[in-house]
Amino acid sequence: MTTPAELALTCTELSPAELAHLQRLLGAWSVLADLSFSDLVLVVPTTPIPGEERELVVIGQIRPTNRPTLLEQDLVGQTVRQAAWALSTAALERGTVVRGAVHHPLIGESVPVENIPVGFGGKVVAVLVRVYARPSEAPLSVYGKRYLDVFERLVQMIMASEFPFRDEDVGTEETPRVGDGFVLVDGEGRVEFASPNAINAFHRMGVYSTPEGRTFTELGIEESAVQWALAAGRPVMEEVERRPDVVVLVQCIPLLEEVASTGAVILMRDVTDVRRLDRLLLSKDAAIREVHHRVKNNLQTISSLLSLQARRLPSDDGRAALYEAERRVRSIAVVHEILSRDPGDQVPFGEIVQSLVRMAEDSVVSARVVEITVDGNLGEVTADVATPLAVALAEVLQNAVEHAFRDDMAPEPGHVRVAMSAGREGLSITVRDNGLGLDEAFDIERTASLGLSIVRDLVVSQLGGSITMGRLPEGGTEVAIRLPSNGH
Ligand SMILES: Nc1ncnc2c1ncn2[C@@H]1O[C@H](COP(=O)(O)OP(=O)(O)OP(=O)(O)O)[C@@H](O)[C@H]1O
Ligand SMILES: [Mg+2]
Repeated sequence: MTTPAELALTCTELSPAELAHLQRLLGAWSVLADLSFSDLVLVVPTTPIPGEERELVVIGQIRPTNRPTLLEQDLVGQTVRQAAWALSTAALERGTVVRGAVHHPLIGESVPVENIPVGFGGKVVAVLVRVYARPSEAPLSVYGKRYLDVFERLVQMIMASEFPFRDEDVGTEETPRVGDGFVLVDGEGRVEFASPNAINAFHRMGVYSTPEGRTFTELGIEESAVQWALAAGRPVMEEVERRPDVVVLVQCIPLLEEVASTGAVILMRDVTDVRRLDRLLLSKDAAIREVHHRVKNNLQTISSLLSLQARRLPSDDGRAALYEAERRVRSIAVVHEILSRDPGDQVPFGEIVQSLVRMAEDSVVSARVVEITVDGNLGEVTADVATPLAVALAEVLQNAVEHAFRDDMAPEPGHVRVAMSAGREGLSITVRDNGLGLDEAFDIERTASLGLSIVRDLVVSQLGGSITMGRLPEGGTEVAIRLPSNGH
């Protein structure tokens, strides 16, 4: 699909400021299509090529939402000879609205068209072509006449380069459309006309009195959009909340005549249901957070129970075992603690590592100082990888502080270095210490001790990764854990 910007760059002479003005027009022109019950097409002259006929290129097209379209084909990107679109060319050259009729190939008869010059910076930069059904074919309703009147006022603004508004935000999907509710106010903000859907919106807001002749404030709607838009001559969008939980989005477009506001168009859209859904999503987020928080609390309770029980045990072995179990439960709680702050599929693993390091430092029993340092990061890790990986890393760190250093060794401090990296090949965590080193006979594949069996099971079976343990040439132990990249 070609965007207006691409088209403008490749085949027209529009300056960046002119293009920005036309893009704002394309962002704001749904109101024009609906108020005029017309298909609209925006054409710009192409860069002249010497010796060739001059052309126009279509950079935008919009259909009305309140009547059937007359232009079923997509015209964006098409070029036409200026001679063939003589009415548009005349509007471009004269700077005035040029009306006429063109033959419609599909309908087989002529349809009326209106060519509106789009002014910017004192010149005509484009032509807005309005294609519509003959009035006799579409009998005008009461509000139809009003809509066309307002459209005429906007046409004057387009020619005077007052519409679209400078530095106006380009419309979002939420921007109300004419069909959502249309109110016309005069220069003082008094309602001149309200469409049936606007009356419905007023009712939803608890306003039942006749709006005509009253300002919004007199109707009991506390808002500042209308007065602000009239005073500043700029469009204003505001959300008006009414008890019980009715939310109406109000867009106010001032109608200007030689810079002075002579009235305003107010589009109103009831967004109560949209906002309720937003709130539900928000509260779901809060619920997930709360669940993680409770899981963390429960795990902490379990770990306290285990340590209480350990303290009462007379047997040293039994006590040590319970303390170990308590520590393992706490390393799982660390992950839930982080998820309770920032729920989602991803957890910042660096924060988990910080907590695990603190836990390992706290459990140093030897008289030797043990320093643990962390280099690198794994970034965000999915929650189902984070938990087993955290438990495995806690075991490895615990082993380093527990087994690598003995009190009777040299007085210099023990070092444990954790290095982490994440790349296309996967995740890697290496833990090195400068301690005693492993026994010659040690083999991670065969060890039956509980701690490393847990680590092996988590890393290999649960995470599909690998683990190696070995003696470093300079003494000490290296444990390397690798996970395939799909764990990230
Ligand atoms: N960093 C290390 N330095 C020296 N020896 C280590 C190191 N890591 C592990 N070991 C040796 O490997 C053995 C097995 O470790 P493992 O974690 O499986 O059991 P444990 O720590 O003795 O008991 P548990 O972890 O179940 O409380 C340890 O007893 C220790 O001898
Ligand atoms: Mg251990």
